[in-house]
This record gives sequence, C-alpha cells and structure tokens, in this order.
Amino acid sequence: MMDNLLGKNIVLIDFMGVGKTTVGNLLSKKLGRGFFDCDDIIMERCAMKIKDIFKIYGEKYFREMEKGVLAELSERKGVVIATGGGAVLNPENIEKLKINGLLVRLKASPWKIMSNISGYAESQSCDSRPLLDEGDKLGNMLRLMHEREGLYRCCHYELFTDPFSAEEVSAIITQYLS
Ligand code: S3P
Repeated sequence: MMDNLLGKNIVLIDFMGVGKTTVGNLLSKKLGRGFFDCDDIIMERCAMKIKDIFKIYGEKYFREMEKGVLAELSERKGVVIATGGGAVLNPENIEKLKINGLLVRLKASPWKIMSNISGYAESQSCDSRPLLDEGDKLGNMLRLMHEREGLYRCCHYELFTDPFSAEEVSAIITQYLS
C-alpha cells in the first residue's frame, strides 16, 4: 500500500446500482479495513427504508441526513466508505470526503446498471431507489446520469466496471492502491 494512503479513506462514488456496496464490502475484507455504507447508516438511524424516508419526510430531509452521515464518516481514518449515488449533489459533501479520502469512481453503462438493478430482489431495489421508480425507470436513470455526469468527475481515480465482476473490480482497486 502506498504509504500516504494508509490512513486515507477509500470512498466509492457513482450512480445507483453500479455496485458500490458490494465492491466496498469486498474491498474492506481484502484490505482489512472497516466498511461503512452511508445509506445503511441512514436507514438504521431512521429505522426506515430509504423509500419511506423520501415518501414521509421528502428528499430534502434525506439529503440533510446524508450530509450529516457523510460529514461523520469523513472524520474516520483508513476505512472504506460506500456513498449513495446522490452524495455528489452537495459540493460540501465532496469537500469533506476529500480531506482524508481517496475518491474512487465506479463508472458503469446504463445497460450494466439496469442489469445489476434487475438482478437484485425487486423489493430491495425499489426500497432504496425511489428516484428511479416514478414512471419510466430507464428514462429516469438516463436523465439523472446525464445531469450528474460532470459531478462524478470530482473523483481521484475512475474505473469503468462493465467488463468486470465485483471481485475483479475490488482486485483492480487493491492493485491500484499498492
Ligand atoms: C440515491 C442513491 C441511493 C440512495 C437514494 C438516493 C441517488 O443510493 O441514497 O435512493 O440520489 O442517487 P445507491 O447509490 O446506493 O443506490
């Protein structure tokens, strides 16, 4: 491991369904680091599914929770963090995560994301991704991906994951860090 990366957090960013949680889990095991998933922490604190937080309190409330959790996670040292796909919407989140983190972008094509999402249990995907669910899923996805493309470029390192399994992606990132 590059000496200067030892205490750094590895922060996974990019769109819903690219595999941030799966890769984050694998990476944390490979590197022997703690793993924190922002959405999981939010759900635990609210004792609610993401879908219900959006429905009952609205997106603005969710984004405030997300901002608070990301600020706390930014203070950690040497852990792996999976962000939600909307973490990049607030520049303050990125600023904080970058203070002690290496931002790794897991980029994927729309068709890979669609296939990942339809591979999850239907309820799990809908429970955590309300922004895709109103009306046309593919249309919503393409629009949001387009809107956010520039924001995800705040990363330090980008990997196009389509050709790889989650296991391979975590091996490539580990290699990059060594
Ligand atoms: C969101 C992504 C989701 C979750 C919420 C909002 C987004 O996380 O935080 O539904 O705005 O992109 P995943 O990226 O883990 O699906």
